[in-house]
Amino acid sequence: MNITQFQKDRFGLFIHWGLYAIPARGEWVRSNEEMEEEAYLPYFYDFQPDSFNPTQWAKYAKNAGMKYAVLTAKHHDGFCLFDTATTTWKAKRDYVREFLEAFRNEGIQVGLYYSLLDWHHPDYPHYKDMHHPMRNHEECKNDDRDFSRYLTYMHTQIKELLTNYGKLDIMWFDFSYGNMKKDVWDAEKIVSMARHYQPNMIIDNRLEGDGIWPGTIMDENPSFTAGDFTSPEQMIPPYGIVNKVGKPIPWEACLTMNEHWGYCAKDTNYKSARLLIHTLVECVSKGGNMILNVGPDARGRFPKQSIIVLEKIGEWMQENHASIYGCSKCDLEKPEWGRYTQKGNIIYAHILDESIFDIPIHIAKDRILKIRRLSDNSEIKIQTPWNAESYPDYTFVSIDAQHHQCPDPIDTVLEITLK
Ligand code: GLC
Repeated sequence: MNITQFQKDRFGLFIHWGLYAIPARGEWVRSNEEMEEEAYLPYFYDFQPDSFNPTQWAKYAKNAGMKYAVLTAKHHDGFCLFDTATTTWKAKRDYVREFLEAFRNEGIQVGLYYSLLDWHHPDYPHYKDMHHPMRNHEECKNDDRDFSRYLTYMHTQIKELLTNYGKLDIMWFDFSYGNMKKDVWDAEKIVSMARHYQPNMIIDNRLEGDGIWPGTIMDENPSFTAGDFTSPEQMIPPYGIVNKVGKPIPWEACLTMNEHWGYCAKDTNYKSARLLIHTLVECVSKGGNMILNVGPDARGRFPKQSIIVLEKIGEWMQENHASIYGCSKCDLEKPEWGRYTQKGNIIYAHILDESIFDIPIHIAKDRILKIRRLSDNSEIKIQTPWNAESYPDYTFVSIDAQHHQCPDPIDTVLEITLK
């Protein structure tokens, strides 16, 4: 896909899945607990997901209204979910291939996450590398580690992903830190390969940056390796994202559904469907995308709570997706009762809060052709309340008989067609 399509699609699924689903304490478990290789090795032998069903995954995503999905082909533990010729530190099945096929079959665009960090490869810096599980082990001095060997290994793996799996829509590299960025990864070579083998694919910004520091994508003239979109992590930028000369740039907020990316058995702290719908609307109202994560368990299943949340999001999306896809920031200021999104001459009013009386929309009456409730296309009549005469720039509407209830308590969307 190209970046314009990406910005129309707005809503995607992230999937973090790998050996770390077995300890089930998140994908950073090896680093957080400073586990040595031998302590992590049993998971390698135990990884036999008997319930892996990517078609089912794709259906969950599709029903939720997600237009694209990104799977961790390799995370920081270095374990590959794809069939690579470079290592035996890989799954016995080519889960990447099965994921790609299943999602494409459901009409969902596909992307792969690839970790630049690698805690398994012997030539990746160990001692004193701020993230490496062996960072505090003096015996792991890096003297005999040859980083160029790691680079060759990494570039070969990336080439495999770019050439063995048909058309990819997104490559999601993760991440740069300290000196470990851009030229250290030989990012020029990576991006050259990516553009060459996959001319219709977009790339995130993390060959140069991370979830906070976006890299040169913020410059007036971004470098070749800047990426096509930025990736704010676990936050929604307060005013969307503009570069250093004030031009809006494509961005995608990546969010967990509970508190972890990788499966965490004890983490039941899920965000509600209501909050996530509001957050998706918030992203679109600020010109951004949202990619929402699911961490399947070691058997290959989406956690039950994730499925429930996805289903609820899907119910709302079913009726209201027109206010998300192809929509962006609206020139009107954020209203007190919710948010606006816009597509051409249609403004979508997302009513998130109840009001005591008619709802003021910051558009003069004579600019409006018609107002409909999006979910059922029912007419919303413009009101002329006696007490609103002194607000000629506003149009007042009532969305329900009682005046203080929203027909859809999550988000009642009004479709306002301008003349
Ligand atoms: C991070 C983390 C990580 C996660 C990712 C998603 O940088 O290291 O585990 O994959 O961001 O945005």
